Amino acid sequence: MFITFEGIEGSGKTTQINFLKDFFKEKSIKAVFTKEPGSSKIGGEIRNILLNKNLDLSPYAELFLIFADRSQHVEEIIKPNLSADFLVISDRYIDSTFAYQGEGRSIGHEEISKIIKKMNLPLPDKTFLLDLPVSEGLKRAKKRAEFDRFESEEIAFHEKVRNSYLKIYEENKNRIIKIDAMKSPNKIFDEIEKNLEIE
Ligand code: TYD
Repeated sequence: MFITFEGIEGSGKTTQINFLKDFFKEKSIKAVFTKEPGSSKIGGEIRNILLNKNLDLSPYAELFLIFADRSQHVEEIIKPNLSADFLVISDRYIDSTFAYQGEGRSIGHEEISKIIKKMNLPLPDKTFLLDLPVSEGLKRAKKRAEFDRFESEEIAFHEKVRNSYLKIYEENKNRIIKIDAMKSPNKIFDEIEKNLEIE
């Protein structure tokens, strides 16, 4: 089973993923936790470019760096582990690209869909979308560390990203579980646990 976590900056994905790690450990469930961008060796190099706020990347340079990272990630980590019947959990995956590049950078949904099909990427079985207002997310992210290239974007960019996620949710309710990220971390995790549907 392939599970992904999605959400805007400061939506609390990392906290929930850490809860999930502990939960699986307790239950002795074997799972592989991974993230985008930057989980492969090449991806680590690509991540440095993507997050460097001193670089002025064009929208398509950004898009293809994201897909370059994803290609390495899928071939080196996701596919082999899914084939070995492991549970794979990724912090961000294709919905991030629809939201950030498709909508945020105005590249469009269709173009991204075409690339995904061409690359024959495995699709997630289940996605947890942590949703909250942009102002709250950015406030939380600001407390954490200095803003990277994406976090430094203007509010309008983040609003587009959030709205895109909500639209994707409306169109994929069978796959996506939307959770109100304004709730307490424990309440959010209760909802995640309830919706996991694994032994
Ligand atoms: P990261 O530091 O991993 O932060 P987060 O905790 O928010 O996941 O940064 C990853 C950044 O990459 C994040 O700001 C969103 C961006 N991103 C895209 O724009 N498109 C994508 O397809 C992916 C996977 C990430």
